[in-house]
Parts: sequence; C-alpha cells; structure tokens
Amino acid sequence: MKSLFRLLPYLSKYKTTLLVGLLTVIVTNLFTVASPWIIGDAIDELKRGIETRTLRHEDLMLYAGLIVGFALVAGIMLFLTRQTIIVVSRKIEYDLRNDFLAHIQKLPYSFFQNTPTGDLMALATNDISAVRNVLGPGIMYPADTLMTLSMSLVLMFIKDWQLTLLALIPMPVVSIAVYKLGQLIHEKFNQRQEQYAVLTTKAQENLSGARVVKAYVREEYEIEQFRKVSWEYFKKNLVLAKAQSVMWPLMFVLVGLSLLITIYVGGLKVIDGEMTIGTLTAFFTYLSLLIWPMIAFGWVTNMWQQGAASMTRLAKIFDTVPDIRDTEVTDYSIQNIKGEIEFRNVSFTHKGAQQKTLKNINLRIPNGTILAIVGYTGAGKSTLVNLIPRLYDVTEGQLLIDGVDIKKIPLEVLRCSIGYVPQETFLFSESIAENIRYGDDNANRELIYEAAEISQISKDVADFPQRFDTILGERGITLSGGQKQRTSIARAILRKPNILILDDALSAVDTHTESEILDRLRGVMKGRTSIIISHRISTVQHADMIIVLDKGEIVEQGTHEQLIEFGGIYAGLYEKQQLEKELEEL
Ligand SMILES: Nc1ncnc2c1ncn2[C@@H]1O[C@H](COP(=O)(O)OP(=O)(O)OP(=O)(O)O)[C@@H](O)[C@H]1O
Ligand SMILES: [Mg+2]
Repeated sequence: MKSLFRLLPYLSKYKTTLLVGLLTVIVTNLFTVASPWIIGDAIDELKRGIETRTLRHEDLMLYAGLIVGFALVAGIMLFLTRQTIIVVSRKIEYDLRNDFLAHIQKLPYSFFQNTPTGDLMALATNDISAVRNVLGPGIMYPADTLMTLSMSLVLMFIKDWQLTLLALIPMPVVSIAVYKLGQLIHEKFNQRQEQYAVLTTKAQENLSGARVVKAYVREEYEIEQFRKVSWEYFKKNLVLAKAQSVMWPLMFVLVGLSLLITIYVGGLKVIDGEMTIGTLTAFFTYLSLLIWPMIAFGWVTNMWQQGAASMTRLAKIFDTVPDIRDTEVTDYSIQNIKGEIEFRNVSFTHKGAQQKTLKNINLRIPNGTILAIVGYTGAGKSTLVNLIPRLYDVTEGQLLIDGVDIKKIPLEVLRCSIGYVPQETFLFSESIAENIRYGDDNANRELIYEAAEISQISKDVADFPQRFDTILGERGITLSGGQKQRTSIARAILRKPNILILDDALSAVDTHTESEILDRLRGVMKGRTSIIISHRISTVQHADMIIVLDKGEIVEQGTHEQLIEFGGIYAGLYEKQQLEKELEEL
C-alpha cells in the first residue's frame, strides 16, 4: 500500500475538485439515508390513518413527494460526484502516463536492452489503469459507503439500538472473509498481470518480426507458441475470476444473515407491540442500504490491492535513476564542443557481461580528422563509438572531448553536437522529409534537400510518389536497406554535427555511390571530426587514420599505406577484398 502514497502529489493538483466531489458525497448520503426514515414514518401514518379512518389524500401526496424529491436530489448529487472524482481520476491517469513515458525517455540505452518492450507496454496500459481505478472508484466508493454506513448506523441506533447490535453480529465475519479473499485475489491478480506482460512481449515480437516468421515459414510454430502463452493467460484470468466470483455470493449470504436476524427479532418486537411496523420497515431499508457498503468494501479492497501492486511495479521504473545524466560535475558553461576526442586507457564491460568488450583503448582523434575503424565482427567497434554520445559510460579510464572529461559536458550539448548513424537504422512511420528533419527540428526544406543531396538519397526520392512527402514504414512504402542508410545519413548531417559517426552506415550502398557520398562528406565535414566504421576497405582507405580493433583492443593503427606495409589484419582484409573484386570483374 505504501507505493500508493506516491500518488499524493498527483491528487493534490486537483484537490479543490476532489473536495467538491467529497462534499457532494456527503449531500447525496444525507438525502439517501433520510428516505428510509420517511418511509417508516409514512407507513406508521398510513396505518394510523387507516385504523382511525382519518387518512387524507394530501398526506399521501406529501410523503410520496418527499420520497421522490429526496431521491432526485441524491441522484443529481451522485451525478456530480462522478463528474468530479471520476473525471479527476481520468486526468491523473493522463498525467501519470505522460510522466511514465517522459521518465522512460530519460533512461539509458542499456535499460531498453534489458527490459522487454512487452513489460513496458503492460505497465503503460494495464497497470496505469489499475492505478486509475484506485483514484476514481477507489476513492468515490469508500467515501460514499463510509458515509452511508455511519449515517445509517446512527439512525438505526436512534430507532432501536438493541436490534441494531443484533443485526450487526455477522458483520465482523464479513470483514474477515473479505480480507482473506482479498489477499487471494491480490496474489492471483499479480500472476495474471505478469502473464499479461509475457503475452504482450510475444505479440509484439511476432508483429515486428513478421518478415522473419514468414521467411522461415514459422507461422504455425508461432501460432502454437502464442496459443500456449495465451492459454496460460486465459487460465490465470479464470483463476482470478473464480476467486473474485466467490466474493459476491459470500457477501450476499452474510448480509442475508443480518436481514434474517432483523426479521425474526424485529418481528417479535412488532408482535409484542414494542416496535411499530414503520420502524421495522425503516430498519429493513437501512439494512439493505448497508448491503452495498459491505460489498463495496470487498470490491474496493481488491481494487486497492491491485492498484498497489501495479503502482509498485510502476514505482520500480520511476525509481530507476538514469545513470547517464547531468550531475554535479556537469559544467554548464560548456555550450558547444569542437570535436577532438581522446580515449585514455578506456575499458568497457557490458552490464552483466563476463568479459571486457573494450580493453585499454588509447586513442587521440584530432579535431577535423577522419578516423576509420575496421575489425572482425564482434570486435567492439560499435561499442567503442557508442561511448562517444554516452549511450554507455566507460567503465574504466577516461573519455575526453576537447580535453574535457565527457562527464562534465552537459548531455544535451554533447548529443546535439554528434551526428550518429547507428548500425541498425531506424526510420519512423512518417514522411522522408520528417525523418530527415529529426536531425534538426528547425531545419527548413532547403536544408533538408541539401542533406538529401549529400547523402545521395535525392535521386531515389525523385521516383517516389509524393517525393519528400512520401510516408515510410508501416503506414507507407518500405525503403531498401541502402535507401534507409542514406536517409539516416541525411538525418545525421542535417544537424551539421561537429562529430559524425557512421557505424557501418554504407554497408548496403554500392561502392560507386559510396565513394560519391564520402567525397561530399569530406566537403561538409571539413574542420570537423568523422568516425567511419566499415568492413570494406574501399570505404576507409582514404581516412586520415585507420585503427584495427580485435577482441576489444587496438591492434593496428596508421594510414592505409602504413597498414598495408605492416602486413597484419588490415593488409589481409585488403588482399582478400582485392581478390574478390578482381574475381567479380572477370
Ligand atoms: N548489451 C550487451 N551486453 C553484453 N554484451 C554485448 C552487448 N552488446 C554487445 N555485446 C558484445 O560486445 C561485443 C562487441 O560488440 P560490438 O557490437 O561492439 O561489435 P562490432 O565490432 O560492432 O561488430 P559488428 O562488426 O558485427 O558490428 C560482442 O561480443 C557482443 O556480443
Ligand atoms: Mg557493430
């Protein structure tokens, strides 16, 4: 339950509306609990009127009018309760969901690598809904039923305190039963929720991996896998429903006991002339007013428990402090960076990994140079460049930019100065222009066209139905691998970065287009730093400096000519690729 306290700031934002809501609850109940009293009086009046033959038409109308009038006021107030408390809960749900996404956006890249997307989806949907229930019905019903309960009890005591006490005998049993059952439901709910996350992950992977599924004709297999997970979810839901369905009948039986006692004891009292029929009727009506609070109590307990469980899960994410962020060492006087990069004895180990991915990297990349990185797959090339925009932080050693420790540079300044084309390009389901503009919000059309020209995507775009306004991705056309890469490059150069990183970003581009792009890049990147990772020698041979990474270490370093001369891994790759080229040309 502690986790729910975190919602207080959200609630306090709407405290006036909530207070109005609670006020309407009080008024509703004043009018609701007055009704049985009037009914009781009416019956006694009627009886006396019939017995003494003095019953007047006006008296009847008065009582009927009162009952209807009171019900009307109570009804209107109830409507206002919903308009305030339930509406507030919806607003908080909205706030909470936005905060959740905003927080997730701040978390480091490694968080997303270690958290299944399905889990996050389940949190943003199901769990936030469960929390919303606590804030809406979870506040409205307890307030309402507490009022009904206390007001009814007071009036019942005034009418006949002995009978009230007798009628209340089964109530502690009700409370205990509700509590025990509530615990069970809580546990089952948790299990259901966990399964829901598994189901969501499965569905999400299936949809985004549709191409692989089809290519490997694994539809049947996937259907079967999904069916299994889905069946588990169904079973867990059923168990939960079973536990929940015991609740209601149990309530009715226990409350029924109270009614039984009232009829019996009250009936005897009426026969003995100690109580009027009207009072007994009023009593009975009060008891039936109490049925709902009893049931609501159980229901709300469930809701609160489910909400608390969900909030605990959400809190876990909210409490994940982004470990890569601006801290007290951040020097906000740094407003831009030039682009000299230096690795000083840098080592890096992935979270949870056994071995170092990078070992003792010592490297200085002067401002304005082009550095190329080659190396076998898995050598650590991507990991190395990921350290520069701080997608990961170095675990040992120091990374400096312009001679300043990278941790002192405000994160935004750092990242805004870097144009990064990741190995796996990602484009949004928007127009090509919008996808390129992602690099710089303020860029106008001219600049977008210019960037597209440099990355050589323009000529492809000319053939698309709506040119630059052609929608990509799930809602539009699918680009080829090379087109995607070139769009991503346009995005990166649009921001005129002081450091440009191309991680294997030309792998799907033919060698002719590639050299065209590289030529133009050399022009725009004059005086700025570029890092190009590639498996192709043709891409890297004109770089100012080339390093060869092997098993996380720099094993060779120099220009193309020096490395050929050296006769190591680089020279081997070169020879192999020359041979392949010659074979192709044959
Ligand atoms: N999040 C991670 N957790 C643990 N190990 C990782 C993680 N990411 C990468 N690795 C490991 O780190 C090593 C280096 O990976 P990296 O992606 O840097 O290689 P690379 O040189 O870019 O390879 P490629 O040429 O295939 O792109 C690999 O052995 C990889 O399995
Ligand atoms: Mg890589």
